[in-house]
Amino acid sequence: MATILLTLQTLALILSSLPLISPIDFKYPAVFNFGDSNSDTGGLAAGIAFPVGQPNGQTYFQKPSGRFSDGRLIIDFLVDSMKLPFLNPYLDSVGAPNFQKGCNFATGGSTITQANAASISPFSFGVQVSELVRFKACVLQLLAKDSRLRRVLPSESYFRQGLYTFDVGQNDLDGAFYSKSEDQVVALIPSLLSEFETGLKRLYNEGARNFWIHNTGPLGCLPRIIDRFGKDPSKLDQFGCVTSQNNAANAFNSQLHDLCQKFRGQFPEANVTFVDIFSIKYNLIANYSQFGFKQSIAACCGYGGLPLNFDSRIACGETKNLNGSSVTATPCSNTTEYVNWDGNHYTEAANQYVSSQILTGNFTDPPLSVQFLLGSEVASL
Ligand SMILES: *[C@@H]1O[C@H](CO)[C@@H](O)[C@H](O)[C@H]1NC(C)=O
Ligand SMILES: *[C@@H]1O[C@H](CO)[C@@H](O)[C@H](O)[C@H]1NC(C)=O
Ligand SMILES: *[C@@H]1O[C@H](CO)[C@@H](O)[C@H](O)[C@H]1NC(C)=O
Ligand SMILES: *[C@@H]1O[C@H](CO)[C@@H](O)[C@H](O)[C@H]1NC(C)=O
Ligand SMILES: *[C@@H]1O[C@H](CO)[C@@H](O)[C@H](O)[C@H]1NC(C)=O
Repeated sequence: MATILLTLQTLALILSSLPLISPIDFKYPAVFNFGDSNSDTGGLAAGIAFPVGQPNGQTYFQKPSGRFSDGRLIIDFLVDSMKLPFLNPYLDSVGAPNFQKGCNFATGGSTITQANAASISPFSFGVQVSELVRFKACVLQLLAKDSRLRRVLPSESYFRQGLYTFDVGQNDLDGAFYSKSEDQVVALIPSLLSEFETGLKRLYNEGARNFWIHNTGPLGCLPRIIDRFGKDPSKLDQFGCVTSQNNAANAFNSQLHDLCQKFRGQFPEANVTFVDIFSIKYNLIANYSQFGFKQSIAACCGYGGLPLNFDSRIACGETKNLNGSSVTATPCSNTTEYVNWDGNHYTEAANQYVSSQILTGNFTDPPLSVQFLLGSEVASL
């Protein structure tokens, strides 16, 4: 056992120091995604008619698409790199959603912990997992009745061969800070992750084998958080981000990483890829000009001007009467200059940068090179 581990680690080390020889050849027939607004492709808009109005979507879709961004999200770039179409939300009820190559259960505002009356989204992680279970059961029934439905529904084998992607937990930490200290928030993490683990196990029992887990980003670098918790400069780090929120995110991520290891140990048949989104986003915010951006912590679409261009009273796209004068939170003239879109979410340009970094394989554990360039030889080690 120890020898095999050493071999894999050495291999990973050698491979990660080499440039990628060929583009990664993902062979997943479908993607099933779970999470919050970071990967919501229209679920909250469909599910509770949450208004995701203009200027959302302006850069890529030319109209609001249910995504909280001016354009594509990380999940869009990822499925695109897997030669799969953008994911339709499970909750889509009009139009002609095609679920053949996957389905998106993520909704903005979702938490790992069960929703309560104050939650934005009732579709917490456990509900999303239950939705997948129901989705699968319905698909199998429908396919048994009418095989022509294969054009719009995933085949049975796709549920095993597909990739299950996750990006959730940010809202649990975020919400907790409104009533708790950093220590108290950190103390909640084990119970959050235990609930997350329960969901992963349910999916495994349903046949899921390929898990792709994003850790949580630098919460303390969001304009809304800096505006609310960063008034005192001693609370900020050298990049202007709130230290306590980022500490909690790091604590969450380190325990999430441990959970991934544990899960692999418990379920040897599972492939678990852990993706270090925090490092990619934090590096982007720290070194933004190096990557062609002009603003790291200011919202593109907001109100109030630099340094944050964020006002909690007025959301991106909204027009309101403030002190007797009508003001609108409008988008910046060039969204590619901004990392942040609306105070809470990233611009398409930033999402594209993050995705390109994910696909280098440098931020995944195990490195993508080990999993995909050597293919089945390594998988069978
Ligand atoms: C994942 O796991 C399956 C089953 O254990 C294995 O056949 C496959 O090669 C693994 N790797 C990938 C990248 O799917
Ligand atoms: C910023 O870039 C420098 C130089 O590449 C690197 O050493 C540093 O780690 C980066 N900062 C962060 C926070 O990643
Ligand atoms: C409105 O008034 C408050 C309190 O007087 C002030 O702090 C704020 O800057 C004003 N806002 C605008 C948009 O003028
Ligand atoms: C937008 O900003 C980017 C980065 O600074 C720049 O390369 C591009 O030319 C700008 N586009 C427009 C239309 O000004
Ligand atoms: C991965 O990281 C190493 C070390 O920082 C770097 O030299 C290499 O260029 C990176 N690979 C890619 C594909 O970006």
